[in-house]
Amino acid sequence: MAENSHTVPWWQNGIIYQVYPRSFQDTNGDGIGDLNGILSRLDHFVHLGIDAIWIAPIYPSPMADFGYDVADHCAVDPIFGTLADFDRLVAAAQARGLRIILDFVPNHTSDRHPWFTESRVSRDSTKRDWYIWRDPGPDGGPPNNWLSEFGGPAWTFHPATGQYYYHAYLPQQPDLNWRNVDVRAAMLDVLRFWFERGVAGFRVDAIHHLFEDEQLRDNPSNPDWHDWMSPARRVLRTHTMDQPEVHAAIAEMRKVADAYGDRLMIGEAYLPFDRLMAYYGVDLTGFQLPFNFELIHTPWQPTAVAALVAAYEAALPQGAWPNWVLGNHDRARVASRLGPEQARVAAMLLLTLRGTPTIYQGEELGMENVPIPLDRVQDPWERNVPGFGRDPVRTPMPWTAEPGGGFTSGHPWLPLGADLATANAAAQEVDPRSMLALYRALLRLRRAEPALAIGKFFPVAATEEVFAYERRHGERRLLVVLNMSGERSEICVDEAVILLSTHLDREKEAVSRRLFLRPNEGCVAQL
Ligand code: GLC
Repeated sequence: MAENSHTVPWWQNGIIYQVYPRSFQDTNGDGIGDLNGILSRLDHFVHLGIDAIWIAPIYPSPMADFGYDVADHCAVDPIFGTLADFDRLVAAAQARGLRIILDFVPNHTSDRHPWFTESRVSRDSTKRDWYIWRDPGPDGGPPNNWLSEFGGPAWTFHPATGQYYYHAYLPQQPDLNWRNVDVRAAMLDVLRFWFERGVAGFRVDAIHHLFEDEQLRDNPSNPDWHDWMSPARRVLRTHTMDQPEVHAAIAEMRKVADAYGDRLMIGEAYLPFDRLMAYYGVDLTGFQLPFNFELIHTPWQPTAVAALVAAYEAALPQGAWPNWVLGNHDRARVASRLGPEQARVAAMLLLTLRGTPTIYQGEELGMENVPIPLDRVQDPWERNVPGFGRDPVRTPMPWTAEPGGGFTSGHPWLPLGADLATANAAAQEVDPRSMLALYRALLRLRRAEPALAIGKFFPVAATEEVFAYERRHGERRLLVVLNMSGERSEICVDEAVILLSTHLDREKEAVSRRLFLRPNEGCVAQL
């Protein structure tokens, strides 16, 4: 049977949407989003046309890193609701054909997790080896030069037991010791707990940090460090990142997932291609989708993006399925990086490339970074290293023009954008040319056209202004032409019919010989 949208796994054909739960929808007036809020907005996902919702951590947490410091892996933080709310959400989502993906944070726990509280009691605690404890270096200082991603040393001294513990992130996020078999078993049980509750998959956090060099060798200094870079980049992470043992651990996670049927494992690893591809695992026994973040970092120029797509496609292991991302809760918003007009072109790129797209909440509204006044800063990274904070990309969804943006009846934990009166979902709902309308049209087209969802990719052109490619499935040939410049442009074609323009005003227009593009316009045309 020929491959069609029904014979490939759901996650190849599907579109993932990332919810940052603190900022999606509040229902109890505390200014922080919750599970019932996500439940109340299921229609938003249905109208958008996505398949799966990845929800960033919802587990009990002191919130030192807003949920990425987990104090109990098998429960829900009261801020977000209860396990019963979660079960209701999964059931209601399923009833609408939506899957729920959770965040799995294997690298570290909260320092208030009972495992760590026990581990720190004494050097012979039964849980001592569950974390990474070491004696001080010869000078009494940290055991080596490893640095925390969030600033400062990666080691914190614990006077009561006279040792340091390692944390790739905050001191409140001690690293688990994945060389300990009991840790592995306990963490794999966490996956089972949620799979049993109907979770469709996991996005696995910070997987490149799972192991560190056993000999604790110093990291070499980074000759390319500049003062505009994060202080953590002063050293190369040669001995603290991407260690070979990680792949066996991922394969164990994947095996657990596979035992439950068509579940999805997505990995978060910020690595260059040659390293990232290994995260698909030997014979594809690793992540089905190791996140591909390259569109976030590549210069927004047709030749650079074309070269990126070609290099990524060429680097994919045999049989591996690609994926693309424009942003997330850690990186500047795409509309702020590229400007609002090119954000529409980027949306067309994301949703017409070969590979599973992940949309970050608010991208469908063209949300931009929101400046955060000093007295409202929340992100610990910003407090430690001003300028690196992620609050501006985590602000609440602007649903309506009312105060609180329809997000909350209370005081929002982060401010909403100053443009709330015009830039909100309700306003976009009634504007036929809005970003929301464009996202819906793109998703509708991708769902209707197997060529876009699962078809082959062929590069066509990359000039100063334009990146063009074809997607083909059987006889069907679709041309995507993206004008990535503010100038008018054109491309040669024989005969074509435009199916969609990012300006949402050229459907069914027939073109012959030349397809003209307005500034900042992208088009999908049928050949
Ligand atoms: C990942 C998360 C980020 C978090 C970090 C530590 O990069 O996306 O938000 O701070 O891991 O868990």
